[in-house]
Amino acid sequence: MTKRVVTLAHYYTQPEVQQMADKVGDSLELSLYAQEAEADIIVFAGVRFMAETAKILNPKARVILPDADSTCSLVTQTDVTQLAKWRNSYPDHVHVSYINSSAEHKALSDWIVTSRNVDDVIAELYSQGKKVIFSPDRNMGAYLNFQYGYDMPLWSAVCEVHDKFNETALNEAIGAVDAAHLIAHPESPLPVLQRAEYVGSTSGMLNWVKGYQGETKDVIFVATEDGILYNMRMARPDLDLRQAPIYAGCQCNSCPYMKLNNVEAVKRAQDGIGLEIDYLTTEQMAAARVPIERMLAFSQ
Ligand code: 13P
Ligand code: SF4
Repeated sequence: MTKRVVTLAHYYTQPEVQQMADKVGDSLELSLYAQEAEADIIVFAGVRFMAETAKILNPKARVILPDADSTCSLVTQTDVTQLAKWRNSYPDHVHVSYINSSAEHKALSDWIVTSRNVDDVIAELYSQGKKVIFSPDRNMGAYLNFQYGYDMPLWSAVCEVHDKFNETALNEAIGAVDAAHLIAHPESPLPVLQRAEYVGSTSGMLNWVKGYQGETKDVIFVATEDGILYNMRMARPDLDLRQAPIYAGCQCNSCPYMKLNNVEAVKRAQDGIGLEIDYLTTEQMAAARVPIERMLAFSQ
């Protein structure tokens, strides 16, 4: 019998890879799609924590990551033994973790959030009088503390891609054009986020661009990985969309892990060859599923 293969791709993958996918989206959309997918094989053209999340949500499917080296700096910068000690030092706090985390990390969390629902989940917890600690993204946590006046203790890892966006280079680029707008992903450094008129997930930024009604001659700087510029330009070819600079004159910020998903690797994965997510134990998956499902129920 023919195998049902479902291919998912994140916005940061190359256009040719996105064109091979049944669904392209942000982390939340891809998790929801993976959960519902009726598939024998799910090919996840993204990074490893995303493929692990898909496996946790749809354990019957074989989940294949096209390239075993597609990791994420938020995962590699977090030592889970140290994280457990940190978590235990706040016994009366709720531990909210960004989805960019390993399955072991998720199992140490009360809630998982994505960049799309993090504001709402934490607002809900504070409205219930809860105390919150946030991991692993220090930039995202600093932004939430600044924006809403929270005092969450933060774990200290960063996205090595977004952390490069530079305020000085940005000011220079904005100063060199007549009129500019800035939208940004919350993994960016706080001074960049403080300048942005919109901060949100990859899908959130894409929707902002789709709905843009300002002057088409204005320059729109986008502080996120360059892959999504493809989707934005397809949606609004009339706009002057530019990636925010990481140093003067450079619009050149890519995620090396997302870009490992090339056409050949994805084709091989569709034939079942790649890193199969078959190493998580039933107990690990069950423990990680609890905070993920809490988030999905909240977001639906
Ligand atoms: P989104 O959930 O906004 O797609 O972000 C995923 C990611 O890895 C950003 O670097
Ligand atoms: Fe991780 Fe950053 Fe790459 Fe997203 S862009 S997968 S957060 S390293």
